[in-house]
Amino acid sequence: MITLISAVIFCFLTSALAQQTCSTEGQFTAAAGYYVFSWSLQSNGMYVDCNVSVNTANNTWVAVGFSENQIMPDTDVIIGANDGTDEFVDDRWNGADRRAGPSLDPMQNIMDTSTIRDGNRLTIMFTRPLVSPDTSGRDENLDVCRYVLWAFGGTTTFENGDVTALGGHSNRGVFPNQLCLCATPTPTETPTPTETPTSSAASVANVAVLTFIFIFIAAIF
Ligand code: HEM
Ligand SMILES: *[C@@H]1O[C@H](CO)[C@@H](O)[C@H](O)[C@H]1NC(C)=O
Ligand SMILES: *[C@@H]1O[C@H](CO)[C@@H](O)[C@H](O)[C@H]1NC(C)=O
Repeated sequence: MITLISAVIFCFLTSALAQQTCSTEGQFTAAAGYYVFSWSLQSNGMYVDCNVSVNTANNTWVAVGFSENQIMPDTDVIIGANDGTDEFVDDRWNGADRRAGPSLDPMQNIMDTSTIRDGNRLTIMFTRPLVSPDTSGRDENLDVCRYVLWAFGGTTTFENGDVTALGGHSNRGVFPNQLCLCATPTPTETPTPTETPTSSAASVANVAVLTFIFIFIAAIF
C-alpha cells in the first residue's frame, strides 16, 4: 500500500518537474568550431547579455538565431565578424528564401555590441531586450522559449568599412534545448488568451491530483 502511495506521489512530482524551467544564465555549445553561445539575464529581467564565439577564418562571420521552429526561414539573426581591420554586429532577419541570407533590419534592436578577433577565434557580444520594440515581425521576443540556431563560416565582404556581402555558412545547426529565459513580466504585457486557460487547466489538474492523494491516504488510515 505504501508502495502504491509512493508511486502516485512520484508520478505527480515527475509531471510537475517536467514543466519547462527557465534560466538566468547558461550556454549552448556545438562541436563544430567549438561554437559557444552564452547568455546572462540582467537583474532587471528585461535585457539579456549574449556572447557568441567560434573558431573561424578571419574573413568569415558568426551568427546566432532565435526562432519559433528549427529551420532557417523566419529567424531573428544576430550576425557579426571581425577580420582584424573591419568589424560589424547586425540585427538581421532570415526571410523565406534561404539563399538570400539574413537581411538588415531597418530597426536595430541590439546594444553594447562589440567583437574580438584572437587568431582564429571570433567573438561577438551584444545585449538585447527580451521584448523587442520592433513590431515589424523581424525580431523574436525572448520572454517565451525559443529555438536557438547557430551558423558560421560564410565569407564577409567589407567595402570602405561597410558590409556589402555575406556568403553562406560552412557549418550550421540547431541546439536541442530551447532558450527559456526567466522574464520579468512587464505591466503592459498581458498574458495571451491561449496561455491562461492552459496554465489554469494545469493547476486545476495538479490540485485534483493532490486532492486525490490526500483522500486516498485518509481512506487508508
Ligand atoms: C548569407 C547567409 C546564408 C545563406 C546564403 C544560407 C543558405 C542556406 C541554404 C541554401 C540552406 C539549405 C542547404 C543547407 O542545408 O546548407 C541553409 C540551411 C540552414 N541555415 Fe542558412 N544561410 C545563411 C545564413 C544562415 C544563418 C544566419 C543561420 C542561423 C543563425 C542559418 C541557419 C541555417 C540552418 C539551421 C539550416 C538548416 C535547416 C534549414 O534548412 O532550414 N543560415 N542555409
Ligand atoms: C562575455 O564575454 C565577456 C568578456 O570575456 C565577459 O565579461 C562576459 O561575462 C561574457 N558574457 C556572457 C553572457 O557570456
Ligand atoms: C587574416 O587572414 C589573412 C589572410 O589569411 C592574414 O594575412 C591576416 O594576417 C589575418 N589577420 C588576422 C588579424 O589574423
